[in-house]
Amino acid sequence: MARDIISLRDLSDEDIEWIVRRGAEIATNRRTWGEPLRDKVIGIYFSKTSTRTRTAFTTGALRLGARVITYGPGDLQLNTGESLEDTARVLGDMLDGLVVRTAGPVAEMRTLAEHCGSVVNAMSEDEHPTQALADLTTLRQRFGEIAGLRVLYVGEGNNTAAALALALPRFEGVSLELRTPKGYGLAPEVLAEARTLADTYGSTVEERHHMDSLPRAMDVVYTTRWQTTGTSKSDPNWRQAFEPFRVDADVVGNYPKAVVMHDLPAHRGEEITAEVLDGPSSIAFEQARNKLYSAMAALEWCHGR
Ligand code: CP
Repeated sequence: MARDIISLRDLSDEDIEWIVRRGAEIATNRRTWGEPLRDKVIGIYFSKTSTRTRTAFTTGALRLGARVITYGPGDLQLNTGESLEDTARVLGDMLDGLVVRTAGPVAEMRTLAEHCGSVVNAMSEDEHPTQALADLTTLRQRFGEIAGLRVLYVGEGNNTAAALALALPRFEGVSLELRTPKGYGLAPEVLAEARTLADTYGSTVEERHHMDSLPRAMDVVYTTRWQTTGTSKSDPNWRQAFEPFRVDADVVGNYPKAVVMHDLPAHRGEEITAEVLDGPSSIAFEQARNKLYSAMAALEWCHGR
Protein backbone atom coordinates (compact mmCIF):
# COMPACT_ATOMS: atom_id res chain seq x y z
CA MET A 1 0.00 0.00 0.00
CA ALA A 2 1.50 3.33 -1.07
CA ARG A 3 0.45 6.65 0.47
CA ASP A 4 0.93 10.33 -0.33
CA ILE A 5 2.20 13.27 1.70
CA ILE A 6 0.72 16.19 -0.20
CA SER A 7 -0.69 18.40 2.54
CA LEU A 8 -0.63 18.14 6.32
CA ARG A 9 -4.39 18.47 6.07
CA ASP A 10 -4.47 14.90 4.70
CA LEU A 11 -2.52 13.35 7.58
CA SER A 12 -4.19 12.15 10.76
CA ASP A 13 -2.70 12.93 14.16
CA GLU A 14 -1.51 9.32 14.26
CA ASP A 15 0.19 9.65 10.86
CA ILE A 16 2.06 12.79 11.96
CA GLU A 17 2.99 11.18 15.26
CA TRP A 18 4.32 8.07 13.50
CA ILE A 19 6.49 10.03 11.06
CA VAL A 20 7.84 12.38 13.75
CA ARG A 21 8.54 9.59 16.23
CA ARG A 22 10.19 7.43 13.58
CA GLY A 23 12.28 10.35 12.29
CA ALA A 24 13.53 11.06 15.82
CA GLU A 25 14.21 7.35 16.34
CA ILE A 26 16.31 7.12 13.16
CA ALA A 27 18.15 10.34 14.10
CA THR A 28 18.98 8.96 17.53
CA ASN A 29 19.71 5.31 16.67
CA ARG A 30 21.31 5.44 13.25
CA ARG A 31 21.38 2.27 11.13
CA THR A 32 18.03 1.00 12.34
CA TRP A 33 16.27 1.06 9.03
CA GLY A 34 17.15 -2.00 6.90
CA GLU A 35 16.09 -1.85 3.25
CA PRO A 36 12.29 -1.52 3.28
CA LEU A 37 12.33 0.17 -0.15
CA ARG A 38 14.38 -2.52 -1.88
CA ASP A 39 12.91 -3.22 -5.35
CA LYS A 40 11.25 0.23 -5.41
CA VAL A 41 12.16 2.87 -7.97
CA ILE A 42 11.62 6.42 -6.67
CA GLY A 43 11.56 9.48 -8.92
CA ILE A 44 12.86 12.74 -7.50
CA TYR A 45 11.56 15.64 -9.59
CA PHE A 46 12.58 19.17 -8.56
CA SER A 47 11.59 21.95 -10.92
CA LYS A 48 13.00 24.48 -8.42
CA THR A 49 16.32 24.74 -6.64
CA SER A 50 16.97 22.77 -3.48
CA THR A 51 19.97 21.77 -1.39
CA ARG A 52 18.45 20.14 1.68
CA THR A 53 15.16 18.59 0.63
CA ARG A 54 16.37 17.09 -2.63
CA THR A 55 19.48 15.64 -1.00
CA ALA A 56 17.51 14.37 1.99
CA PHE A 57 14.96 12.48 -0.10
CA THR A 58 17.54 11.19 -2.58
CA THR A 59 19.94 10.00 0.11
CA GLY A 60 17.06 8.74 2.23
CA ALA A 61 15.59 6.66 -0.60
CA LEU A 62 19.01 5.21 -1.43
CA ARG A 63 19.71 4.36 2.21
CA LEU A 64 16.35 2.59 2.42
CA GLY A 65 17.35 0.39 -0.52
CA ALA A 66 15.43 2.09 -3.35
CA ARG A 67 16.80 2.92 -6.74
CA VAL A 68 16.41 6.55 -7.65
CA ILE A 69 15.89 8.58 -10.81
CA THR A 70 16.34 12.32 -10.47
CA TYR A 71 14.83 14.94 -12.74
CA GLY A 72 15.99 18.55 -12.59
CA PRO A 73 14.26 21.65 -13.91
CA GLY A 74 15.19 21.02 -17.53
CA ASP A 75 14.57 17.29 -17.83
CA LEU A 76 10.91 16.45 -18.35
CA GLN A 77 8.81 17.10 -21.44
CA LEU A 78 6.64 19.31 -19.24
CA ASN A 79 9.09 21.96 -20.45
CA THR A 80 8.01 21.42 -24.05
CA GLY A 81 4.32 21.49 -23.33
CA GLU A 82 3.37 17.95 -22.29
CA SER A 83 0.52 18.12 -19.81
CA LEU A 84 0.88 17.34 -16.13
CA GLU A 85 -1.79 14.63 -16.50
CA ASP A 86 0.09 12.86 -19.29
CA THR A 87 3.34 13.18 -17.37
CA ALA A 88 1.68 11.67 -14.29
CA ARG A 89 0.25 8.74 -16.28
CA VAL A 90 3.62 7.86 -17.74
CA LEU A 91 5.60 8.26 -14.52
CA GLY A 92 2.93 6.40 -12.57
CA ASP A 93 3.31 3.37 -14.83
CA MET A 94 7.08 3.24 -14.33
CA LEU A 95 7.81 4.50 -10.82
CA ASP A 96 6.76 3.32 -7.37
CA GLY A 97 6.85 6.81 -5.95
CA LEU A 98 7.58 10.41 -6.79
CA VAL A 99 9.02 13.19 -4.62
CA VAL A 100 8.18 16.54 -6.18
CA ARG A 101 9.02 20.23 -5.80
CA THR A 102 7.23 22.72 -8.04
CA ALA A 103 6.34 26.39 -7.90
CA GLY A 104 2.70 25.47 -8.44
CA PRO A 105 -0.12 24.89 -5.97
CA VAL A 106 -0.80 21.75 -3.94
CA ALA A 107 -3.48 20.94 -6.55
CA GLU A 108 -0.69 20.01 -8.99
CA MET A 109 0.52 17.35 -6.59
CA ARG A 110 -2.98 15.95 -6.39
CA THR A 111 -3.06 15.60 -10.18
CA LEU A 112 0.22 13.68 -10.04
CA ALA A 113 -1.11 11.53 -7.19
CA GLU A 114 -4.11 10.42 -9.26
CA HIS A 115 -1.72 8.38 -11.36
CA CYS A 116 1.41 7.81 -9.26
CA GLY A 117 1.61 5.24 -6.46
CA SER A 118 2.94 7.67 -3.89
CA VAL A 119 3.59 11.40 -4.18
CA VAL A 120 5.51 13.45 -1.62
CA ASN A 121 5.19 17.23 -1.73
CA ALA A 122 8.77 18.43 -1.32
CA MET A 123 7.51 22.02 -1.46
CA SER A 124 4.75 23.66 -3.42
CA GLU A 125 3.78 27.29 -3.73
CA ASP A 126 1.43 27.14 -0.77
CA GLU A 127 2.77 24.46 1.59
CA HIS A 128 6.04 22.79 2.58
CA PRO A 129 4.78 19.83 4.59
CA THR A 130 8.02 17.85 4.78
CA GLN A 131 9.75 20.91 6.26
CA ALA A 132 7.20 20.97 9.07
CA LEU A 133 7.56 17.22 9.64
CA ALA A 134 11.34 17.60 9.90
CA ASP A 135 10.91 20.59 12.22
CA LEU A 136 8.55 18.65 14.47
CA THR A 137 11.18 15.90 14.59
CA THR A 138 13.77 18.47 15.72
CA LEU A 139 11.39 19.86 18.34
CA ARG A 140 10.64 16.35 19.62
CA GLN A 141 14.34 15.62 19.93
CA ARG A 142 15.11 18.94 21.56
CA PHE A 143 12.17 19.26 23.96
CA GLY A 144 10.88 15.70 24.33
CA GLU A 145 7.30 16.94 23.95
CA ILE A 146 5.85 19.29 21.36
CA ALA A 147 2.67 19.85 23.34
CA GLY A 148 2.75 23.09 25.28
CA LEU A 149 5.60 24.69 23.31
CA ARG A 150 5.55 28.45 22.66
CA VAL A 151 6.76 29.31 19.15
CA LEU A 152 7.40 32.79 17.77
CA TYR A 153 7.53 32.80 13.96
CA VAL A 154 9.03 35.96 12.38
CA GLY A 155 8.97 36.56 8.64
CA GLU A 156 6.94 35.91 5.55
CA GLY A 157 3.78 33.82 5.85
CA ASN A 158 5.15 31.52 3.17
CA ASN A 159 4.84 27.79 2.49
CA THR A 160 6.99 26.93 5.51
CA ALA A 161 4.83 29.14 7.75
CA ALA A 162 1.68 27.56 6.31
CA ALA A 163 2.95 24.06 7.06
CA LEU A 164 3.90 25.02 10.61
CA ALA A 165 0.50 26.67 11.11
CA LEU A 166 -1.25 23.49 9.95
CA ALA A 167 0.91 21.25 12.15
CA LEU A 168 1.82 22.92 15.44
CA PRO A 169 -1.70 23.72 16.72
CA ARG A 170 -2.47 19.99 16.56
CA PHE A 171 -0.26 19.49 19.60
CA GLU A 172 -2.17 20.31 22.78
CA GLY A 173 -1.49 23.66 24.36
CA VAL A 174 0.91 24.99 21.73
CA SER A 175 1.12 28.76 21.41
CA LEU A 176 2.03 29.88 17.87
CA GLU A 177 2.68 33.63 17.54
CA LEU A 178 3.34 34.87 14.00
CA ARG A 179 4.86 38.24 13.21
CA THR A 180 4.59 38.79 9.45
CA PRO A 181 4.95 41.95 7.34
CA LYS A 182 1.65 43.51 6.29
CA GLY A 183 0.71 42.12 2.90
CA TYR A 184 2.99 39.09 3.37
CA GLY A 185 1.10 37.17 6.03
CA LEU A 186 -0.42 33.73 6.09
CA ALA A 187 -3.11 33.11 3.49
CA PRO A 188 -6.43 33.92 5.22
CA GLU A 189 -7.77 30.40 4.73
CA VAL A 190 -4.64 28.89 6.31
CA LEU A 191 -4.90 31.24 9.30
CA ALA A 192 -8.56 30.30 9.69
CA GLU A 193 -7.74 26.60 9.50
CA ALA A 194 -4.92 26.99 12.02
CA ARG A 195 -7.27 28.78 14.43
CA THR A 196 -9.89 26.07 14.05
CA LEU A 197 -7.23 23.46 14.82
CA ALA A 198 -6.11 25.52 17.80
CA ASP A 199 -9.67 25.60 19.16
CA THR A 200 -9.91 21.83 18.76
CA TYR A 201 -6.62 21.01 20.47
CA GLY A 202 -6.52 23.71 23.15
CA SER A 203 -3.77 25.67 21.39
CA THR A 204 -3.57 29.30 20.30
CA VAL A 205 -2.57 30.95 17.00
CA GLU A 206 -2.05 34.71 16.73
CA GLU A 207 -0.75 36.69 13.77
CA ARG A 208 0.29 40.36 13.96
CA HIS A 209 1.92 42.58 11.36
CA HIS A 210 4.34 44.46 13.61
CA MET A 211 7.22 43.70 15.96
CA ASP A 212 5.97 45.83 18.85
CA SER A 213 5.09 44.21 22.16
CA LEU A 214 6.50 40.78 21.43
CA PRO A 215 5.13 37.94 23.57
CA ARG A 216 6.78 37.63 26.96
CA ALA A 217 8.10 34.06 27.03
CA MET A 218 8.86 31.78 24.08
CA ASP A 219 10.63 28.43 23.70
CA VAL A 220 11.39 28.78 19.98
CA VAL A 221 12.10 31.71 17.68
CA TYR A 222 11.67 30.59 14.07
CA THR A 223 12.50 32.52 10.94
CA THR A 224 12.80 31.91 7.21
CA ARG A 225 14.38 33.61 4.21
CA TRP A 226 12.66 36.71 2.91
CA GLN A 227 12.84 35.50 -0.69
CA THR A 228 11.04 32.19 -0.66
CA THR A 229 12.33 29.70 -3.24
CA GLY A 230 10.42 29.82 -6.50
CA THR A 231 8.63 33.08 -5.73
CA SER A 232 9.10 36.76 -6.44
CA LYS A 233 7.45 39.88 -5.06
CA SER A 234 5.67 42.34 -7.32
CA ASP A 235 6.45 45.40 -5.16
CA PRO A 236 10.02 46.54 -5.94
CA ASN A 237 10.16 48.12 -2.46
CA TRP A 238 9.16 44.97 -0.59
CA ARG A 239 12.33 45.07 1.56
CA GLN A 240 11.02 48.12 3.42
CA ALA A 241 8.14 46.04 4.75
CA PHE A 242 10.51 43.26 5.85
CA GLU A 243 13.23 45.35 7.53
CA PRO A 244 11.62 45.38 11.01
CA PHE A 245 11.24 41.59 10.90
CA ARG A 246 14.92 40.67 11.24
CA VAL A 247 15.77 38.17 13.97
CA ASP A 248 18.70 39.80 15.72
CA ALA A 249 20.26 39.87 19.17
CA ASP A 250 17.56 42.23 20.44
CA VAL A 251 14.76 39.87 19.43
CA VAL A 252 16.36 36.72 20.82
CA GLY A 253 17.57 38.64 23.89
CA ASN A 254 13.92 38.63 25.01
CA TYR A 255 14.09 34.83 25.22
CA PRO A 256 17.42 33.74 26.76
CA LYS A 257 16.34 30.08 27.03
CA ALA A 258 14.78 29.81 23.55
CA VAL A 259 16.25 27.98 20.59
CA VAL A 260 16.44 29.69 17.20
CA MET A 261 15.23 27.77 14.17
CA HIS A 262 15.62 28.54 10.47
CA ASP A 263 14.59 26.29 7.62
CA LEU A 264 17.58 27.49 5.52
CA PRO A 265 18.96 28.61 3.15
CA ALA A 266 19.77 31.72 5.17
CA HIS A 267 20.70 35.17 4.05
CA ARG A 268 22.73 36.53 6.95
CA GLY A 269 21.99 40.21 7.44
CA GLU A 270 18.51 39.94 5.96
CA GLU A 271 16.04 37.80 7.93
CA ILE A 272 18.61 36.89 10.59
CA THR A 273 21.95 38.26 11.73
CA ALA A 274 25.07 36.10 11.49
CA GLU A 275 25.52 36.57 15.24
CA VAL A 276 22.21 34.82 15.90
CA LEU A 277 22.31 32.17 13.17
CA ASP A 278 25.83 31.13 14.13
CA GLY A 279 25.29 31.68 17.84
CA PRO A 280 24.75 29.22 20.68
CA SER A 281 20.96 29.23 20.61
CA SER A 282 20.71 28.36 16.90
CA ILE A 283 19.72 24.81 15.98
CA ALA A 284 19.31 25.56 12.27
CA PHE A 285 21.87 23.02 11.13
CA GLU A 286 20.43 20.38 13.44
CA GLN A 287 17.14 21.06 11.65
CA ALA A 288 18.83 20.64 8.28
CA ARG A 289 20.45 17.36 9.35
CA ASN A 290 17.11 16.04 10.59
CA LYS A 291 15.61 16.56 7.14
CA LEU A 292 17.36 13.34 6.10
CA TYR A 293 15.98 11.28 8.98
CA SER A 294 12.54 12.80 8.59
CA ALA A 295 12.61 12.10 4.84
CA MET A 296 13.48 8.48 5.58
CA ALA A 297 10.59 8.23 8.03
CA ALA A 298 8.27 9.83 5.47
CA LEU A 299 9.35 7.39 2.75
CA GLU A 300 8.94 4.43 5.11
CA TRP A 301 5.43 5.66 5.94
CA CYS A 302 4.53 6.22 2.29
CA HIS A 303 5.68 2.78 1.29
CA GLY A 304 3.93 0.71 3.88
CA ARG A 305 5.68 0.75 7.22
N1 CP B 1 14.46 24.27 3.67
C1 CP B 1 14.51 23.81 2.41
O1 CP B 1 13.50 23.37 1.83
O2 CP B 1 15.75 23.81 1.86
P1 CP B 1 16.06 23.52 0.32
O3 CP B 1 15.34 24.56 -0.49
O4 CP B 1 17.54 23.59 0.19
O5 CP B 1 15.53 22.14 -0.01
